[in-house]
Amino acid sequence: MALDSMRGMMDRARAGGYAVGYFEAWDSYSLEAVLEAAEAEQAPVILGFGCMMADGAWLDAGGVEMLAGLGLPLAHRARVPVALLLNEAHTLEQARRGLDAGFNAVMMDRSAWAWDRAVREIAELVAYARTRGASVEAELGRLPDAVAEGIDDSAAALTDPEQAAEFAHLTGIDCLAVSVGNVHLLTSGYAPVDLDHLEAIHRRVGLPLVMHGGTSFPPQAVPRALAGGVAKFNVGTILKKRFLDAIRGRVAVWPAGVDPHQVLGSHKDTDLLNTGKTAMAAEVRRLIKLYGGSGKA
Ligand code: 13P
Repeated sequence: MALDSMRGMMDRARAGGYAVGYFEAWDSYSLEAVLEAAEAEQAPVILGFGCMMADGAWLDAGGVEMLAGLGLPLAHRARVPVALLLNEAHTLEQARRGLDAGFNAVMMDRSAWAWDRAVREIAELVAYARTRGASVEAELGRLPDAVAEGIDDSAAALTDPEQAAEFAHLTGIDCLAVSVGNVHLLTSGYAPVDLDHLEAIHRRVGLPLVMHGGTSFPPQAVPRALAGGVAKFNVGTILKKRFLDAIRGRVAVWPAGVDPHQVLGSHKDTDLLNTGKTAMAAEVRRLIKLYGGSGKA
């Protein structure tokens, strides 16, 4: 199946009262976990990789192209609608290279940039993406950070609804990631999301909204988030946790004399990484159901 437009998928999600999940992968096993879960749920899904946790030098030395090379064959054999996203590119150059390599959606992390630079560079990226039929996501405001003791919101900024409307108008982006108390990378507990603030943004910005920090987004708040314009949830941390916990469980009962060929890279039931993949796919299916995407392919 050809890649689907991320913006188109989000518009359909808005009209259908559900959200599409972007479940962040980091290798072929995790990417397959997402697609298999989406196919099992008959759900549209956004496949892709994130730059935030990846080493910048590795990304610049061909990592971006390598990730596209993993994603494209899988995306093309998908039996549900998929887009392929390069998430949270550090630099405009990485985002452009992602589009050249075949990603059909890109998200720029511009939270550290001043307004003028953000407007100029994101507008440039949008113009570049348009020549390839690709979608662009950007964020306005800044999410709090998860720290060992909980949440550090000292550098955080809520998305300002008026600024967001102006930013959307000036740049031509396809969707806007919002900061409404949601937290990236929180490993336990739920973020104190401000749904009234989300609704204020939704009243001013006509675009589909994106909720990063899906791991700690309170499940009971999902229906109001959907009504408040959210068309995509980004999920990362919980997926790596599920993957790793499953592997640790097996390594803990490791038999003596284990055959390395069977447990690494065989893609059989004996493959340690398949154990992680199975656990991750179960989590993705649970979240697709939570976002209302099952049966919407
Ligand atoms: P979590 O890791 O908190 O789920 O957030 C992922 C994310 O927002 C990726 O863009």
